[in-house]
Amino acid sequence: MDAPALTPATESLTLFDVEAESGDAGRAATDRALGHWPSPVYFGELLFESHFGHLPPGAIIVEPSAGEGNLLSIIPDRYHAVGVELSPQLAAQAAQRTGRRIIVGDFRNVELGLRPDAVFGNPPFRTELVDAFLSRSHALLPAGGIVGFILPVYMIGNAARVRDFNLRWSIEQELIPRELFGKVTTPLAFVRFVKDGMRRLVGFASFLEAADVLHNVDRRFRRIMERGGRRGPWREVVVEALRILGGEAPLARIYALIESRGLAVTRFWREKIRQVCGELATRGVLVRLTAGTFALYPQEIV
Ligand SMILES: C[S@@+](CC[C@H](N)C(=O)[O-])C[C@H]1O[C@@H](n2cnc3c(N)ncnc32)[C@H](O)[C@@H]1O
Repeated sequence: MDAPALTPATESLTLFDVEAESGDAGRAATDRALGHWPSPVYFGELLFESHFGHLPPGAIIVEPSAGEGNLLSIIPDRYHAVGVELSPQLAAQAAQRTGRRIIVGDFRNVELGLRPDAVFGNPPFRTELVDAFLSRSHALLPAGGIVGFILPVYMIGNAARVRDFNLRWSIEQELIPRELFGKVTTPLAFVRFVKDGMRRLVGFASFLEAADVLHNVDRRFRRIMERGGRRGPWREVVVEALRILGGEAPLARIYALIESRGLAVTRFWREKIRQVCGELATRGVLVRLTAGTFALYPQEIV
């Protein structure tokens, strides 16, 4: 098989104020190119115990970017643990140190010859690589399979990215101390992706709702939702929509006007609009023409 090309580690370089503690500049440069930042063993053990300790004996666990084997070394003997590592030198170190099998290659496409139940690692902090690691893991894992990665928070801080990940995974995240890795300059998290079809999100406040507004609501209405008004955003949204629609409209037309094209998940704003239309009709601010059709009073249509 051809040696896989290394992707430039530009993001890794910006995350760390690098000092070659060994004084070996060549080794430090190679580490940076590979995105090689070993995890503290004691901390990896704590993560493993709380997130993977429930797996039954004999479960197959893959460490997809094993480095010199820090995380692999703490996987208990009751599990079948296998490492993957791009660098043959690091792979040899990891094999010698852990006694585990290390597959030399690129986790994105290397032939594993096994079906893991879980994937546990600290991949290089490069967005496209982490995305590819997750895709490969999803293809390899059975239903219920788990991925646990140490990641920079910026990789899970974007509402649309989380929405997209969440289409295939339940996700939960927790902060971990950034000084675990010396002079790291970005917040870090341990992120657990579970292929359970449940699409749960833990530790992500209203990400799906925000993704819907930011990416699937017409810009005019997004501005109103963001800015609000004296009586909150929803009344403003309804009045503006009814004005645009000529003074009266069924809810379905109001929804269609507000929604822009794209992937919407919650459409939580529909319920807000339905509620506010009902309230405004009860208070005589709107006219309810039929069960789901509302009209402005003529003086409101300006
Ligand atoms: C951040 S280090 C982590 C090492 C180890 N997991 C730990 O936590 O101590 C990332 C490792 O991934 C390896 N690596 C980079 N790209 C890889 C790829 N595409 N497939 C497999 N390993 C890769 C690097 O050589 C490096 O050793």
